[in-house]
Amino acid sequence: MTEQEQILKLREELHRHNYNYYVLNMPTIGDRDFDMMMHELQDLEKRHPEMADPNSPTQRVGSDLNNEFATVLHKRPMLSLANTYNRQEVSDFYQRVSDGLQGAPFQICCELKFDGLSISLHYEKGKLVRAVTRGDGTQGDDVTQNVRTIRTIPLQLPEGGGYPEEFEIRGEVLMPWTSFERLNEQRAQREEQLFANPRNAASGTLKSKNSSTVAERGLDAYLYYLLGENIPGDGHYQNMEAARKWGFQVSDAMKLADSLQDIYDYIEYWDTERKNLPVATDGIVLKVNSLAQQRSLGMTAKSPRWAIAYKFQAEQAETVLRQVVFQVGRTGAITPVANMDPVQLSGTQVRRATLHNADVMAQLDLHVGDHILVEKGGEIIPKVVGKACPTEPGSLKINFPTLCPACGSKLIRYEGEAAHYCPNETGCPPLILGKIEHFISRKAMNIMSLGPEIAESYFRQGLIHDAADLYTLRADQLLNADGSNKVSVNNILSSIEESKKVPFERVLFAIGIRFVGEIAAKSLARYFGSMERLSSATCEELTQVNGIGDVIAGSVVGFFADERNRSFVRKLSDYGLQMQISQEQQEAKSDRLKEKSVVISGVFARHSRDEYKAMIEKHGGKNVGSISSKTSFILAGENMGPSKLEKAQKLGIQIMNEEDFLQLVGEN
Ligand code: IVH
Repeated sequence: MTEQEQILKLREELHRHNYNYYVLNMPTIGDRDFDMMMHELQDLEKRHPEMADPNSPTQRVGSDLNNEFATVLHKRPMLSLANTYNRQEVSDFYQRVSDGLQGAPFQICCELKFDGLSISLHYEKGKLVRAVTRGDGTQGDDVTQNVRTIRTIPLQLPEGGGYPEEFEIRGEVLMPWTSFERLNEQRAQREEQLFANPRNAASGTLKSKNSSTVAERGLDAYLYYLLGENIPGDGHYQNMEAARKWGFQVSDAMKLADSLQDIYDYIEYWDTERKNLPVATDGIVLKVNSLAQQRSLGMTAKSPRWAIAYKFQAEQAETVLRQVVFQVGRTGAITPVANMDPVQLSGTQVRRATLHNADVMAQLDLHVGDHILVEKGGEIIPKVVGKACPTEPGSLKINFPTLCPACGSKLIRYEGEAAHYCPNETGCPPLILGKIEHFISRKAMNIMSLGPEIAESYFRQGLIHDAADLYTLRADQLLNADGSNKVSVNNILSSIEESKKVPFERVLFAIGIRFVGEIAAKSLARYFGSMERLSSATCEELTQVNGIGDVIAGSVVGFFADERNRSFVRKLSDYGLQMQISQEQQEAKSDRLKEKSVVISGVFARHSRDEYKAMIEKHGGKNVGSISSKTSFILAGENMGPSKLEKAQKLGIQIMNEEDFLQLVGEN
């Protein structure tokens, strides 16, 4: 077998294993063997750039090249569905269909309504050629590059599978609950805005400019609509069964109904059972099964006459509003929270519900004693959605405060943000406590034997005023403090002492500069090498660092401009915390790429793209995204994009291969 043939064979096998693993959940080989095959394919592809294929299984990991989304016209418009909310409306639909078909027998295909964003996939000769979002229904964004990273979407269908030469299949891109929760946890840690529900998260992810971000976030997809000239048969249900055999993920919850009663049974069953699904659903979709009957029923301007959605009732309950408290979070964001008479909702008793922000509150126009409606919808936390009846005259109106409820500072609102913030970072107790809690957390200084509760009690007793004071604590103070025994006090003190060894990059993360998460801290630490150099860096110097934009740079400069922060950092330094990168890291650094702007392009054999980025920074250079006359050289792997190549040649910019680059920086 030639290497070219081997490539084709490996691709086919890997596509099959991907399908077995991700769609069927029935892997037939072990992870190690899979990885080995993948590596073999990667090696072969590197040797044969002429065989490059965007649908190769090696492309699932995405890339960090900037995506541009072209707008494309849909071949067939992507309509939406009319919504119904109760049995009567479902029965009206059933009757309309029956009348429209002049009493002929018909079947209804019942399906789950997946709560994500719709996608249209185009296949030619079994290959995925294009993936487009719904957009406005007439035209959408070409997100093919990102969709290729979704493992349940086949890139290449097995040969001889009996599918038409050309077809379109539509479905829903979703973020499973587990991925959603993981993502929000990460975002919370990095102090980034959380996604309200998996739908928003899926949509934000699919529109990401960086397809490796998409690959990491674990999106999923269910397909529910096949279109094209030569699709297998007249039955929608049967066509979807065929699509499943070709390798698409089609929900097994699909069911044919022969009567209105069958439909009601289906709705009733899934209204509760859907809570056990790995992805969010918000209703049921009912479709006339025969395509001929669908055609004869036709469409209205907005939606087909042959299908409707039945939306599940988001569970609501009525209760009485007693008070609104304004919580101050560790970032200073103020969240209004309603305290209510306890009420049962989706199986749990709730007493508190979020009011989100000042705008939402103003819209609800709340008064003490109002009868309000709370709902648990796609969001995790119950929310107040409205009033159940008009406010009693004379009730006390609840206003959003202008001053911080914890420290009295005047609240501020950043441009473009919905939340109000307390700006008093060094004087507002919840903010300080938040900072201490962050400081001791595992990924920061890892003083976990202390824990947030004990830290809070030390703070309340005045033993510490900020995180730096932890390093002044003595055993005799703590033994008296909250009845802790000797063993736990010793543990606490020794883990505080131990934290002095925590490397500089984590100290930098721990001091809690707004927007400087774990990753930014690492890049900054490596680039500047010490707190001293970082603290005197200008915005311009800071934005030289990969991944550091104006927002983070501004925040770093602002942090060190404040004498209170400088004195906090000085104290930490005096107590012996690591204020520079280790000797080892120091020695590895060089100035070999000083003042050089390097563009990375193509696929590499020896190191990953991220490793090359880190190397460029380590040697004093700057990695930039696009080629300009200022580019010093291009670090090029295999398959460098033709437009980049042309531009480089036009500007006379040097193209360097990875071997020469490694030689240059002395990492060979
Ligand atoms: S069929 C012409 N089936 O709901 C019919 N749609 O409100 C096309 N959706 O835009 C849609 N699950 O994003 C269909 N099983 C399902 C669905 C489904 C979710 C979404 C889809 C569509 C919206 C319609």
